[in-house]
Amino acid sequence: VALARQRTGVLMAPRPIVIDCDPGHDDAVALLLAVGSPEVDLLAVTTTFGNCAVEDATRNALQILTLAGATGVPVASGAAGGIDGKSTLGNYVHGTSGLDGPPMPAPASEVVPAGAVELLRRTIQASAEPVTVVATGPITNVARLLLEHPEVKDGIAEVIFMGGSTERGNHTPTAEFNTYADPEALDVVLRSGLVVRMVGLNLTHQALATPEVVERMRAMDHVVGQTCAAWMGFFGASYNRLWEFEAPPVHDPCTVAALIDPDLIQWRECFVAVELAGTWTRGTTVVDLHHRYPDEKPNAHVAMTLDAERYWDLVLDAVDRI
Ligand code: BDR
Ligand code: CA
Repeated sequence: VALARQRTGVLMAPRPIVIDCDPGHDDAVALLLAVGSPEVDLLAVTTTFGNCAVEDATRNALQILTLAGATGVPVASGAAGGIDGKSTLGNYVHGTSGLDGPPMPAPASEVVPAGAVELLRRTIQASAEPVTVVATGPITNVARLLLEHPEVKDGIAEVIFMGGSTERGNHTPTAEFNTYADPEALDVVLRSGLVVRMVGLNLTHQALATPEVVERMRAMDHVVGQTCAAWMGFFGASYNRLWEFEAPPVHDPCTVAALIDPDLIQWRECFVAVELAGTWTRGTTVVDLHHRYPDEKPNAHVAMTLDAERYWDLVLDAVDRI
């Protein structure tokens, strides 16, 4: 196993991870961050519906890995809709392709035909070390894996997901998009007994791609940096039109960044539930920061504050390294 120098200066084996995603502009940056960071070993990528139809998300994942020169990472396609059978899509944010903006290379690799759940199962069971599952879209594939193959839990170090919020939502006034798109799946994960980390909007809204950040991407003398800058242009215009943000929050890479630099985010351990039924609040995460439900045990570590300067240094260094 090749050793990687951690940010602490200590040499350690890279942490094995899989990313289940719906790329998506910010998922794309999360994939680049993983590919460009020696602290993590990206074993597999699986795709889900979410920002676009799953077929588009799969093509986008293959194109992103081609752009990054990481065509050896296996990719498999997963859920077309949530456990309730509905397919909530975010093309209104990410465009027709799910990754609108700059031109992308043709995919230089093909999907693993077995599908997302099977690729996740095989990858986790083949790994010598427990695998960290990173989920940056609706968490359907992960829930199906846990329901269909509960024995894989022994091989999972933790599940870290982007979704939910301690505060307001985005897809609806109270629900974040990923948790709205499949609350039943998140419920399975929250009840799994696994170590679960939630990176919600309250955290990711601190990860803004300001004009200075975008300029640092554009100033890189390679196509990967310039592609990131162009993605931020499209994503930023959506965020400005829909939510009046001055700069887009780059949500999904916060999960991978937390694995690379353990001091980047401050966490609170508490009870988290997801609303499955509410008249107006389906998909909303209920985060008990102040122990108002004394009978409920903590089941998640919730991301609270981000060191945004360190975050962008880490993301941009990785993109520049590709
Ligand atoms: C989440 O939804 C998608 O738009 C993003 O990719 C992110 O995973 C933010 O609510
Ligand atoms: Ca996503």
